[in-house]
Amino acid sequence: MPSPVLKLARATEPAWVEAATANLELVLLDHAHCEKKAAGAALRLLFQYPQHGFLQRPIAELAREELLHFERVLGLLEARKIDYRSLSPALYGARLQAEVRREEPRRAIDQLLVAGLIEARSCERMKLLAEAIAEPALSEFYSGLLAAEARHHRLYVELAGQLAGPDGVAPRLEELAAREATFFGDPAAPVRFHS
Ligand SMILES: [Fe+2]
Ligand SMILES: [Fe+2]
Repeated sequence: MPSPVLKLARATEPAWVEAATANLELVLLDHAHCEKKAAGAALRLLFQYPQHGFLQRPIAELAREELLHFERVLGLLEARKIDYRSLSPALYGARLQAEVRREEPRRAIDQLLVAGLIEARSCERMKLLAEAIAEPALSEFYSGLLAAEARHHRLYVELAGQLAGPDGVAPRLEELAAREATFFGDPAAPVRFHS
C-alpha cells in the first residue's frame, strides 16, 4: 500500500522504478516538464476562480514554488548536458482531467483533487527515485523535494475541502484515486514521470 498520508489507491510497481532509473535522462527531462505544468495548472486555477479568494494566495505561492523546482531541474539538465526539448506527455494527465465533472462547484472541487493526486503521485515517485538512484547528488535532490510535494498534496485536498466540506471531499477523493490507479503501468508506454 502507498503511504496513507498521500491518499493514493495503489502503489507504483517496482517495474516503473527499474525503467525510470534505466532512463534517467528521459525522466529528468519529463520531470522538468511536470514542474512547469504544475506551475501552469496552478496559475490556470487562479485565472479560473477569482471569486474564490481563499485559493489565491496559497495557490500563487505553490505556483512560484513549482517554478523554482522547474528551474532546479533545468539546472540538473544543463549540468548533465541534456538538451531541454519537448517530449510527448504521458496520457496520465489528460486521463485525469477527463474525470473532472463539468458543472460548478464540482468542477473546481475535482480540479483541486486531481491536482492533489498528481502531487501525491509525484511525491511517491520522487521517494522511490531517491531510494533507487545510486548517485548521491541526484538522490538527495529527489529526497529534498518530497516535503514540498507532500505539502502541495495536502494543500489541494484542504482547499477542495473548503468548497465541498470535509465530508463531501473524502468520498470523491477516493473515487478519483481509484481512477488514478488505473492510468499507468502500460508496459508499451514510453517511460515518463507519470507513465
Ligand atoms: Fe514541484
Ligand atoms: Fe508540487
